[in-house]
Amino acid sequence: MKICCLGAGYVGGPTMAMIAYKCPDITVTVADINEARINAWNSDELPVFEPGLDDVVSAARGRNLFFTTDKNKAIKEADIIFVSVGTPTKTYGSGAGKAADLKYIELCARDIAEFSEGPKIVVEKSTLPVRTAEGLKTVLKANSRPGLEFQVLSNPEFLAEGTAIDDLNDPDRVLIGGEEETEAGRKAIATLVDVYANWVPRERILTTNLWSSELSKLVANAFLAQRISSINSISALCERTEANVDQVAYAIGQDSRIGPKFLKASVGFGGSCFQKDILNLVYLCEHFGLPDVAAYWEQVIIMNDWQKRRFSQKIVNTLFNTVNGKRIAMLGFAFKKDTNDTRETAAMYVGRDLLDEQAVLAIHDPKVSPDQIFYDLKEKPTDAEGKPNKQIEICEDPYVATQKAHGLAILTEWDSFKDLDFEKIYENMYKPAFVFDGRNILDHEKLRKIGFEVFAIGR
Ligand code: UDX
Ligand code: UDX
Ligand code: ADP
Repeated sequence: MKICCLGAGYVGGPTMAMIAYKCPDITVTVADINEARINAWNSDELPVFEPGLDDVVSAARGRNLFFTTDKNKAIKEADIIFVSVGTPTKTYGSGAGKAADLKYIELCARDIAEFSEGPKIVVEKSTLPVRTAEGLKTVLKANSRPGLEFQVLSNPEFLAEGTAIDDLNDPDRVLIGGEEETEAGRKAIATLVDVYANWVPRERILTTNLWSSELSKLVANAFLAQRISSINSISALCERTEANVDQVAYAIGQDSRIGPKFLKASVGFGGSCFQKDILNLVYLCEHFGLPDVAAYWEQVIIMNDWQKRRFSQKIVNTLFNTVNGKRIAMLGFAFKKDTNDTRETAAMYVGRDLLDEQAVLAIHDPKVSPDQIFYDLKEKPTDAEGKPNKQIEICEDPYVATQKAHGLAILTEWDSFKDLDFEKIYENMYKPAFVFDGRNILDHEKLRKIGFEVFAIGR
C-alpha cells in the first residue's frame, strides 16, 4: 500500500512519520510545495520541534518515509491521499475573520483529480468546516475520468503540539468519517481503519458519517477552549476576592463529571486551532440561522481576548501607569511549552500592547527564532540604516533579558523557567522588581521572600 500526504506542516509531518514508523509495509510520501520545508524534513534540523519526533523520523525516513516536492508523482502512486494543508481564517471577502479559507484544499482536490490514474481514497486531515468533504467530492467528481473513483473520508487530527508523538502513539480515539450508507464508502472506511489498527486498539477507532466526524473536531476544540475561558473568567473574580483560582480549579476538577484537565488559568489560550475552529463554528451557526448559538460560542473568544488584554494592562497599571522606556523581560513566546509554534500566542498580543505603550521588550524563548518573534510583533530587527530595533531585544540568555528590567513576565510555561536563579535575577533588576506570572508556574512565596512584588493569575 502507498500513502501520500499533501502538506508537511505541524499535522502532516508528525502524523505521517508515525504511520510510517508503525507500518513498515506501507510506503508513506509527504509532499509540500514549500521546498525549504521539505529540505528541512530531509535534514537533521526538522522544521517542527516536537519531543520524540527526531527518533520517529530517523527510524522511518529513507526506509518507508519520504519527503518530496514532487506532489504529482506522489499523488499518482498513492492509494490513500491525506490532505493536510493549512486552512487559515479568511482575511478577505465574505466570512473574513471567521470562515476558513479553503483555497489550498481546493487546489489539492484539483491536483488529485488531474494527476490520478486510478481509484483513490482522499482523506481530509486538516481542520475543516462541516461539509467541506462535499466540496471536495464535487471538485473530484467534476474532474473525474473513466477508471477513476474517489472516496472522501474525514479523519480529524486530535494531537496537541508539544505532545504530538505521545498523542499519535497512544490516542484517546481515532475518528474516521465516511459514506457509511454506501458499500464503497464502508470499504474505504475499513481500509483506513486497518492502517490505524496496526497500533491503535480497535475499540478506540470510531467510525461515523462524514458530517459527524467533521463537526466533532470543531466541537472538541470548542469545548476545550471553553473550559479555559471559563476558568480564566473565574480567575478575574478570584483576583477581586480572597479565592485562589488554582484551589478552585482543583476543587471543581475532583468532580468526576467535570474532571481535572484543561482547567489551568493562564494569560489566554493560543495555538493554531482553538480560535480558528471556534470562529469557524460561529460562522457555521450564523450561516445556518442560529445567531444565539453563534453568540454563545463567540463569547469564548471574547473572554480570551479580554484575558490577554487584562494581563498587559495589569503590567502597565502596576508599573505606575507607564512603561514608556522601561525594560520588560518577557520569558516565553511560544503559545505553550515544548513547541516552537507561535501561532495566536498570547505573548504576541501582550507584546504588541506593551510596544504600543512604548515599553522596551527583552524577549527570551528557548525554541522560538528571533525572526519569528519580530514577524509576530510586526516589527523589523533593524531600521532602514541597519541599526538594531530600539524597542525589542531578543535574548538567548534569560539572565540577560532580566538585567535592568522593571518587570518580568512569564508568558509560556517552559519548565526551565522554574529553575532560574531568582536571587541573581532580583539583584540585577530595578526595584521594586515586579514579577507577572501569566502561567502560575513560579514559587510565589519564595519570590516574595527574595523581595519581588508578585502578580499571578487568579490570586
Ligand atoms: C445539581 C448538581 O449536579 C449537584 O452536584 C448539586 O449539589 C446540586 O445541583 P441536581 O440539580 O439534583 O444536582 O441534578 P443534576 O443531575 O445535576 O441535573 C440538573 C439538571 O440538568 C436536570 O434537569 C437534568 O435533567 C439536566 N441534565 C443533566 C441534562 O440536561 N443533561 C445532562 O447531561 C445532565
Ligand atoms: C489543541 C487540542 O488540544 C488538540 O486536540 C487539537 O488537535 C489541536 O488544538 P494545541 O493547540 O496544540 O492542541 O495545544 P493545547 O494543549 O490544547 O493548548 C492550547 C492553548 O491552551 C495553549 O495556549 C495552552 O497554553 C492553553 N491552555 C491549555 C491553558 O491556558 N490552560 C489549560 O488548562 C490548557
Ligand atoms: P498544520 O498545522 O495544519 O499542519 P501548517 O501551516 O503547519 O498547517 O502546514 C500546512 C502545509 O501545507 C505548509 O507547509 C504548506 O506549504 C503546505 N501546502 C499548502 N498548499 C499545498 C499544496 N497544494 N500541496 C502541498 N502542500 C501544500
